[in-house]
Order: sequence, then structure tokens, then C-alpha cells
Amino acid sequence: MKGIILAGGLGTRLHPLTKVTNKHLLPVFDKPMIFYPIETLVKAGINDILIVTGGNNAGDFLRLLGNGKDFGLEHINYTYQEGEGGIAEALGLAEYFAAGDSICVMLGDNIIEKNIIKAVKSFREQQGGAKILLKEVRDPQRFGVPVLEGDKVIRIEEKPESPGSSYAVTGIYMYDSRVFEIIKSLKPSDRGELEITDVNNAYIETGELTWDVLEGWWTDAGTFESLIGATNLVHETGANNL
Ligand code: DAU
Repeated sequence: MKGIILAGGLGTRLHPLTKVTNKHLLPVFDKPMIFYPIETLVKAGINDILIVTGGNNAGDFLRLLGNGKDFGLEHINYTYQEGEGGIAEALGLAEYFAAGDSICVMLGDNIIEKNIIKAVKSFREQQGGAKILLKEVRDPQRFGVPVLEGDKVIRIEEKPESPGSSYAVTGIYMYDSRVFEIIKSLKPSDRGELEITDVNNAYIETGELTWDVLEGWWTDAGTFESLIGATNLVHETGANNL
């Protein structure tokens, strides 16, 4: 399985912090934000990693991460997203890298307390399809939200005004190689982006999406509130604990 970290986008919700740097290079307690998802993948045994970045400061990722030696990697792959056409558009750029393998995707602004070792193992044992990780949150309307019928996810709604459950779809996704065909069939949403929620809904339609609940805390760090919240959480408990 290969790993992909999506760190494109322009980070406009964090202006002026992101006027002269990329959101994923901002500090979260004692490390740049991008360190956390890299550690999550590496601790789950995923060592072949692509970082999709964008914006004006893409070169800084190379200066910061180099070939990944600090994470015990032999090498890191990079690619560049023009503009901010959405999470699914950024993921589409990874087709050549994935080369038919299954993939574990993590959003560059997501941070977790524990690890995804169990989920990755169970996806490796699953016959293709997709897997998402859910987490109960106080403000589901900020996220992709699963509508549940019993223990079945019947659809996912992106930032719904009246959420169908109290869960958020976290920014950690596992897919088989068909994901790239699905992405090619997508149309931009009302906010002009190719939505990862539409990708997940395509797997729900064919009955091939499984889900687990993530253990420990989970946060994004893409707004001022969640950025300081993430810093406090990492300070209190550390992240990516085994
Ligand atoms: O954090 C989880 C949530 O992430 C999910 O619950 C939502 O379903 C999903 O749509 C996403 O929502 P956000 O609105 O928070 O996504 P945002 O635009 O903040 O992008 C999150 C990361 O994805 C960002 O840190 C980098 C990457 N990204 C985003 C866009 C729009 C890209 O690489 N390229 C892009 O064009």
C-alpha cells in the first residue's frame, strides 16, 4: 500500500498566516503541521509516500523534508497541484505514483492522538473497495457527515446544515486502484471543487465502503480555532501514540 498526503490548497481560511507560507508548514506545538500525517503513515508501516502540494511555497517542503531521512524514509515523492480544485483533484494527481497499488490518503491538516495500524491492517485484508474512518464530534456541520442506518453508512453529506449523525468523516481514506477512474467521472461541486465526499459516495453506491471509528482524539488544523485546539491537544498528550 502506498501513502499520499494532500497538502495543496491555498489555506485562505488562515489568512494572513498563509500569505507567505503554506498552511501545512505552520507550527502545531513543536513541529510543522505536515510532520504529523507523515508520522501517522510511517507508524502504520507505509513507507512509500507522495506529498501533493501547491501554492507559492512548494519549494519549502523540499527544504523542510528533503528525502525523508528524519522519518526513517529512504525517499519522499512530491507533486504539485495548480490552484485549489479540491481534495479529489489533488488525489487525482497521484495516479501515476500509485501505479495500480492500493492507497492510504491523509489530509495534510489532520492530526490524530493514536494510530491507524488496525484500520490499515483490516483494509489490507479487505477485497478492494474503500475504507473511511469516522469520529464523533461536537460540530459535524463543518465536515463530511455520514448518514447511518444501523451500522451501514447510506450516504455522506458534505458540510450539511442539519447533520444526519454526530460523526465526521476524518481526512484518512483508503482506496483500491479504481479510485482514479471514479475521480475522472466527477463534476465540480457548488464550491467549484472535486469533492472527496463524491468519491466516497461512489464506493457506497457499489456497496464497497467500510468504516471504523478512530480511537483517541482527531482534529484538523485549518481554521484559527482548530489550529490552536490542535496545538493544545498535541501539547497535552502528544500525537501518533502507539
Ligand atoms: O478534515 C476532514 C474534512 O476535510 C472532511 O470531513 C471533509 O469531508 C473534507 O471535504 C475536508 O473538508 P475541509 O473543508 O476541511 O477541507 P479543506 O478545504 O480545508 O482541505 C483539507 C486539506 O486537503 C488541506 O489541508 C489540503 C488538502 N487540499 C484541499 C484542497 C481544497 C488539497 O490538497 N487541494 C485542494 O484543492
